[in-house]
Amino acid sequence: MILTVEPAETGLRGEITPPGDKSISHRALIFSSLAEGRSELSGLLESEDTLATMRACEQLGAVVERRDDRIFVTGTAGALKPPANGLLQMGNSGTAMRLLAGVLSGQGFDSTLSGDESLNSRPMRRIVAPLTLMGADITASEDGTAPLHIRASRGLRAIEYESPVASAQIKSCVLLAGLFASGTTRVQEPHLSRDHTERMLPIFGVDLPSACSVEGGSKLKASRFSVPADISSAVFALAAAALTPGSDVTLRQVGMNPTRTGFLRCLEAMGADVRITNLSAQSTEPVGDIRLVFNDNLKAIDVPESLVPDMIDELPLLMALAVSATGTTRIRGAAELRVKESDRIAVMAAGLKKLGVELQEYPDGIDISGGKVSGARVQSHCDHRCAMSFAVLGLVASDPVLVDEAEYIATSYPGFTDDMRRLGAVMRVAESL
Ligand code: S3P
Repeated sequence: MILTVEPAETGLRGEITPPGDKSISHRALIFSSLAEGRSELSGLLESEDTLATMRACEQLGAVVERRDDRIFVTGTAGALKPPANGLLQMGNSGTAMRLLAGVLSGQGFDSTLSGDESLNSRPMRRIVAPLTLMGADITASEDGTAPLHIRASRGLRAIEYESPVASAQIKSCVLLAGLFASGTTRVQEPHLSRDHTERMLPIFGVDLPSACSVEGGSKLKASRFSVPADISSAVFALAAAALTPGSDVTLRQVGMNPTRTGFLRCLEAMGADVRITNLSAQSTEPVGDIRLVFNDNLKAIDVPESLVPDMIDELPLLMALAVSATGTTRIRGAAELRVKESDRIAVMAAGLKKLGVELQEYPDGIDISGGKVSGARVQSHCDHRCAMSFAVLGLVASDPVLVDEAEYIATSYPGFTDDMRRLGAVMRVAESL
């Protein structure tokens, strides 16, 4: 599928409520599937990634019903059932695979987790190593990738795990396995990664004995949970407004968890006019409205390395934004970008070069010089966030920008083009040219 974005003739204006948070939606589905009783979930993201988790939860015995805008999940009270033919397909979703690997490592049946070409090439040793330390029988391919084969558990033991990477997927995988281990499992990481698992477990009846730890044998209970709008989706309209003269957009009730707001802090540091109002709490998360008014004042920044984990998914978009900033924007300490849904440094660098942008790639980052953007056809390499980042840049290019493999946008934000059109962008989707 090809997405064509026309250069904007007027500013983007209006209000939208972005879709539900992807990270939180995966967790809400997994936790309610493990719980005893029937959970009521509202605001859940229904995108390709979270639907993969939902299908896996159903295959493992949870019953999912939809009523109006709510999803009801009757959990298994910890007694997951083996999936038919043992295989669970996770599609493109690293979160689904890594979190469920933690859960399945503690079950009394064999299972296999597989994904699409992208997911089956991403590093899995980072979870296989701690799970093996816990006594799990889990194997990846020789080069450390999925499919992951997990054999029936003969009992897990708790570990104190010092993760080498600030990764919420590693942390959550180990904590979820810890629910099925004897003793207290604790995870430490070099920088606090998104902490949705730690915030949400208590709502599902599991109190953490201390920060980032769980007690083996803890039982989950059904809950009523409301998922906030995804800041990682909201940022595309914000960046589009920061780039397009005459824009004034407001994003409603967006999750404002401090482990996720690095992009907002960068927008402010670059000189954008960002206004946050109506701060409140929704279930476990802070939420607020974000308004962005175009001010023609974007300047380049050195992205502080300490902010990288708080905006890891937004770095491709920051690269797009940097193109319209005066000066050279520098990103470093972001080698993790190379093992996301694509090698996001390489994919963004290749696309931006096609759009006439001056840049220098580094193993762990990139330098991008602000300047003019020309139109071109760019490859998103089946990566939803790169596809949307290129699409946003199309609004300020001299000619249309065409984005290949745009169907992957549905991985996290199926309503992206509709929302952008609602704000005034001209975007067309076609099967082929
Ligand atoms: C996620 C954690 C992050 C993030 C991903 C979602 C999660 O990955 O990039 O999109 O929901 O836990 P890492 O744990 O690999 O940093």
